[in-house]
Amino acid sequence: MGLAWAALFASHGIEVTVTDPREDLDEAVDEALPLLAAGLPGSDPDGLRGRIRTTHDLAGAVAGARLVQENGPEDLEFKRRLFADIAGHAPGDAVLATSTSGIVASRIAEGLPDAVAARLLVAHPFNPPHIVPLVEIVPGARTSEDVVEAAVAFYRSLGKVPVRLHREVPGFVANRLQSAVLREAIHLVLEGVVDAGELDTVMKASLGGRYATVGPFESFHLGGGPGGIRHMMRHLGPGLAEGWRRLGRPELDDAAVATIVARTEAAYGTGPAAYRERAALRDRKHLALNATLRATDKNDTQNT
Ligand SMILES: NC(=O)c1ccc[n+]([C@@H]2O[C@H](COP(=O)([O-])OP(=O)(O)OC[C@H]3O[C@@H](n4cnc5c(N)ncnc54)[C@H](O)[C@@H]3O)[C@@H](O)[C@H]2O)c1
Repeated sequence: MGLAWAALFASHGIEVTVTDPREDLDEAVDEALPLLAAGLPGSDPDGLRGRIRTTHDLAGAVAGARLVQENGPEDLEFKRRLFADIAGHAPGDAVLATSTSGIVASRIAEGLPDAVAARLLVAHPFNPPHIVPLVEIVPGARTSEDVVEAAVAFYRSLGKVPVRLHREVPGFVANRLQSAVLREAIHLVLEGVVDAGELDTVMKASLGGRYATVGPFESFHLGGGPGGIRHMMRHLGPGLAEGWRRLGRPELDDAAVATIVARTEAAYGTGPAAYRERAALRDRKHLALNATLRATDKNDTQNT
């Protein structure tokens, strides 16, 4: 996550410092940049590398930062300690953002002084963050409104689509939706209804495209014809609620994990070469989708 953010920032001319205790930090940056640059039209790996400095020294890394984007392990205690450390060395007006996939900012900020908690918020990207537009902005109870506004403006200036949540909820919105889909997807594969590749085909050929054009609510509203969602709720509402009771609740025990891993690897391969090839294909398709949607959205005032 961290390297993709770094590449995105650098592609917008920002001088970035990456800090990570891993011994092979420079090699990791050099290895990641070709794929990342391919996802950032107009960028090249050398140009990006020229704006990315690496260091193992966290204090020095954050000393002059205007914004810190934290991408460490997903562990509450770790993030609490890390932000205490960051706050001790970053400028007093730096925005402190975490990429956490689900931990709320209020919990990370517990134990930190108000002046630090006021600058700490969640800025949750969706993978790959240099290509998928969404950034969920989730302030904590003590985050200042000025910091929220500055963060929204910053991510928007990078071409991202920031959405500010009204209140904190673990997992935020996008991952909760993804989790609901994944739960049923795993259930259907474990039940032998489809294999992993077939399930992905069903998704890409139906809901995937639909939800890139209209979200679940607009889709439902349009599905009701001129009667809209009022008609849909009367017509299909009872069946919808009944269907929820039939959804799967798979257990992720060893056997289930082994089945899901085997079916997915059978469909898509495994290892670094397969990863690079499939990730590059995913990125190319997503870039094409972004460009097409941007072109058609230009005059649509409903899109923010
Ligand atoms: N992977 C995803 O799809 C995804 C999506 C959205 C958000 N996130 C969030 O982003 C964060 C990072 O996830 P990831 O998948 O990139 O994890 P990762 O395990 O790939 O990377 C974590 C990195 O943190 C480094 N690290 C450990 N201690 C550190 C320290 N003290 N200072 C600086 N760096 C340190 C590790 O060396 C490692 O390189 C998590 O909070 C995760 O929830 C991940």
